[in-house]
Amino acid sequence: MCGIVGILGTEPVARGIVEALKRLEYRGYDSAGVATIESEGHVERVRAPGKLHNLEDKLKASALKGTTGIGHTRWATHGVPNEPNAHPHVSGDVVIVHNGIIENFKPLKDELLKEGVVFSSQTDTEVVAHLIARERAKGVPPKEAVAKVLKRLEGAFALAVIFASEHDLMVGARMGAPLAVGHGDGQMYLGSDAIALAPFTNRVTYLEDGDWVALTRNSIEIRDGEGRQIVRPMNFTQASAFMADKGKHRHFMAKEIAEQPEVIGHTLAEYADFAEKAARLPSEVKIDFANLDRLTITACGTAYLAGLTAKYWFERYARLPTEVDIASEFRYREAPMPKKGAAIVISQSGETADTLAALRYCKAQDQDTLALVNVPGSTIAREAHAAIRTYAGPEIGVASTKAFTCQLTVLAALAVAAGKARGAISRDQERELIGALTEAPRHMAEILKDEKHIAEVAREIAHAQDVLYLGRGVNYPIALEGALKLKEISYIHAEGYAAGELKHGPIALIDENVPVIVIAPQDDLFDKTVSNMEEVAARGGKIVLLTDDGGIEAHGQRTFRRIRVPKAHAFLSPLLYALPVQLLAYHAAVFMGTDVDQPRNLAKSVTVE
Ligand code: F6R
Repeated sequence: MCGIVGILGTEPVARGIVEALKRLEYRGYDSAGVATIESEGHVERVRAPGKLHNLEDKLKASALKGTTGIGHTRWATHGVPNEPNAHPHVSGDVVIVHNGIIENFKPLKDELLKEGVVFSSQTDTEVVAHLIARERAKGVPPKEAVAKVLKRLEGAFALAVIFASEHDLMVGARMGAPLAVGHGDGQMYLGSDAIALAPFTNRVTYLEDGDWVALTRNSIEIRDGEGRQIVRPMNFTQASAFMADKGKHRHFMAKEIAEQPEVIGHTLAEYADFAEKAARLPSEVKIDFANLDRLTITACGTAYLAGLTAKYWFERYARLPTEVDIASEFRYREAPMPKKGAAIVISQSGETADTLAALRYCKAQDQDTLALVNVPGSTIAREAHAAIRTYAGPEIGVASTKAFTCQLTVLAALAVAAGKARGAISRDQERELIGALTEAPRHMAEILKDEKHIAEVAREIAHAQDVLYLGRGVNYPIALEGALKLKEISYIHAEGYAAGELKHGPIALIDENVPVIVIAPQDDLFDKTVSNMEEVAARGGKIVLLTDDGGIEAHGQRTFRRIRVPKAHAFLSPLLYALPVQLLAYHAAVFMGTDVDQPRNLAKSVTVE
């Protein structure tokens, strides 16, 4: 997935394009590029491998003046992240940027190669540029040429195309990857999302799959997949024109970890009635929990782990059978779904391709669908029957932290509401659980005070080649999350396991070089987890025990290191234990000197399969 932007402006657009690309860098940062029409028939293109600042440096030396231009920030799919593979790609008078994958690019490329077309990159995108240029060479007008080629493309993509000879035209197309049109006064924009367009306009039209659009500075023509001219609504977005900054923190991730007590408070205020100690669901939630046979939750990565945590809550507190699956697996599994079923999809960005596909599958199976997103107005939010949100604020660090705990907060409140609706918990139990939940910000603030100590422990595990994380029950997903965080930002290999599963294989890995992070609040599973911990200790494994005062007193003595987490209701523990595992990963990464906010090979929003 990549970020694309296009501007039909009245002033030179290169700077504005870079400004928009900064907001899209979360979608990929393997390379970036800009192309502008400098005079009729003449396009200038500046591209640079690596992060956007490399492009910015290069642009300083080349004063682009064109008022029509497109730009791109890349997450490599076809071809290594070098300059020749950086977008925009050019063929004849066609200049194009692309997000997504052209799945049938190989036969199309073979066809072009047979005709003697010479390729200058390894990308699938260049195929599209040549196909449109071929139509242009036959005399087909620009937008008709794009429309004709679109019919031949398979896959999920968004495109923005300009033509060297057409100063007042930009064509965009959307199939499975997001694309928004921004309306200015005598200016028009295209962007992968509304946030990219926020510096220019808050008036945005989202294209639907199969749509293509032809823009001039003063007109918009949208056609659907059948070629019919249609009107799509214009929305007023609330995307902020201001870029989030790091404040006093060294990294966005550090800031986002530190923000958790506050944003959990904001999220709780929307989903809990503090005075009544009751769950309070937004009116958008129409799921009839009382009459549900099964709940399906699907998502990717960290959002999936929020869903996995929620399974424990929905099953225990609402007695609601809950199935959780990774969206990329679920979408192709052809899972039968019950008549009285509902599905929750979870996504920080609201744009993840696999989660979107899973949502569409659930809708096709007549499930009542609910999206839980952090970005209102995102594709997933718009397509689900209903959408509710977390109040995490913009999450810039690629590794999800505050969005995860906000997702947990909403899911906890939903589970309590479902329990109440199904008669699985009493009003008193609801009071107890919601009362416990409202304590989360206070406990989180206390955990953050221990950051210095956690950073010291992190430095000790940063030397390891492999790290294991163990957890049981509702804390098993937190073990998985701890391992995911550590590997994605510090590049240290880590695995999360259900503590009881260790003896069925992974225990063979244990020796004195392997730190084992044990997540073990003193709850009803504590003794079982401690037994598994002893099995590790007996084989020389270095145990880092995350537990409360009672746990430290009972079993802290023979461990390598201890991290204290405040004693709280067991319902809360995933929310609280998420913080030390985030901090361990963060400080290990800082110690290793990695690019914490933009780790290698990753992107914040994954809009390809
Ligand atoms: C890990 C991480 C990813 C995302 C995943 C889903 O720290 O951030 O695993 O959780 O790519 O993204 P969203 O939530 O945007 O659907």
